[in-house]
Amino acid sequence: MSTQQDTPPSGDGLFRTKTVEQSIRDTEEPEHALKKSLSALDLTVFGVGVIIGTGIFVLTGKVAKETAGPATALAFVVAGVVCALAALCYAEFASTVPVAGSAYTFSYASLGELVAWIIGWDLVLEFALGTAVVAVGWSGYVRSLMDNIGWTMPEALSGPDVASGFGFDILAFALVLVLTVILVLGMKLSARVTTVVVAVKLAVVLIVIIAGLFFIKASNYSPFIPEAEKQEGGSGLDAPLVQLIFGYEPTNFGVMGIFTAASIVFFAFIGFDVVATAAEETKLPQRDMPRGILASLVICTLLYVAVSLVVTGMENYSDLSVSAPLADAFKAVGHPFYAGVISFGAAVGLTTVCMILLLGQTRVFFAMSRDGLLPRFFSKTHPRFGTPYRPTILLGVIIAVVAGFTSINELATLVNIGTLFAFVVVALGVIVLRRTRPELHRAFRTPWVPLLPIVSVAASVWLMLNLPAETWLRFGIWMVIGVIIYFVYGRSNSRMAKGR
Ligand code: ALA
Repeated sequence: MSTQQDTPPSGDGLFRTKTVEQSIRDTEEPEHALKKSLSALDLTVFGVGVIIGTGIFVLTGKVAKETAGPATALAFVVAGVVCALAALCYAEFASTVPVAGSAYTFSYASLGELVAWIIGWDLVLEFALGTAVVAVGWSGYVRSLMDNIGWTMPEALSGPDVASGFGFDILAFALVLVLTVILVLGMKLSARVTTVVVAVKLAVVLIVIIAGLFFIKASNYSPFIPEAEKQEGGSGLDAPLVQLIFGYEPTNFGVMGIFTAASIVFFAFIGFDVVATAAEETKLPQRDMPRGILASLVICTLLYVAVSLVVTGMENYSDLSVSAPLADAFKAVGHPFYAGVISFGAAVGLTTVCMILLLGQTRVFFAMSRDGLLPRFFSKTHPRFGTPYRPTILLGVIIAVVAGFTSINELATLVNIGTLFAFVVVALGVIVLRRTRPELHRAFRTPWVPLLPIVSVAASVWLMLNLPAETWLRFGIWMVIGVIIYFVYGRSNSRMAKGR
């Protein structure tokens, strides 16, 4: 095994990189190690468990109604292609640097500490807000189920009111806290729970596709790509950045609408990158990680295209519901029973999505703390459960509060921009690591380097440009805060800095 002397940290200051051997060695310190218990199948179940969620269950309706019509299916294809390109890069990184922390760890090994910090900080945004978004979506489905059996939550406990902004979503809050406890108790328990819930969720998605086929009317597909129409109202900042840059009049629908829609339904794919965060807990990461990532991505893309085609075929896109489109499409064709089953499955399914995003979040935080970029206090694992319980509890409580007080809409686009940014860094990282460490064993090699990573960067940036200008602004503010924290704390406390 390599030692500290034969693989010294390379580079200086902001660009110091942590060697791959060093990353792997850090995971072997008993106090700071996670248990290795996951297989490729576990990872795929894990992936499907987190990928299918609020995106397909909630955003499909809104996007079809307001942005793309039946062409929403094409938006899913566009977003799926962007993710597949990124997945091919993620898979190489995850199989080369099999330690906790996802893109954060990968960039530490290739692009240097500052970039690694930025990406870690970015992933905190992605996972924390993603968890909150899904918890709020879950709470909506649970309330709708409760309404079915005649129970109604008091308004004040049903989430913030759109007009006044007041209110607390007690269900979303409680969900995040319960999941936090499950995660503290141990990974294996969560994987088992996940398997059952993923089965329920897949069954519901298949019911939508198969039962829905019988209610499709060809006339609903005409026009398949509705004509572009001018966007109503708004401050201007809510238009896609690309339209502002090129001075177009902001529009919905049309061919551009497909790309705008893709930048939103992209949320539906978030999660395959979370699979990479579990590399350290995988038995054979070199072989199983790429398999797990790619398998879960392919399964989800096929299901999304099918679901969106069925739903926009059942009901005219302009009549779709924005809160529970899959269930309400069945109500619209006179089948409330199916609608009830779908709502139930959605509520059950969103639970795992929320849990795995929360898990990804705590693992990134754990890795950053183990490296000293955040206080080392957070990287002590639990003596009995072997889980990073300190960041899990801290972040679980913060996310629960955010989920309780925040509404779903703008958070999703912020999550998307953060994730796409991470894709860009990972794709660049693959190119850099091939040059700086050509000799490293790569169980999975991204094909056509550097062409494929470059195309991946371009595709991710294109989707980012299709997000609203105000999302860029919020993202910029978050990143500036992160850079300040790095210069005030991480730079001098980093283990790499101390080791020198
Ligand atoms: N892809 C996950 C969802 O759609 C985050 O909820």
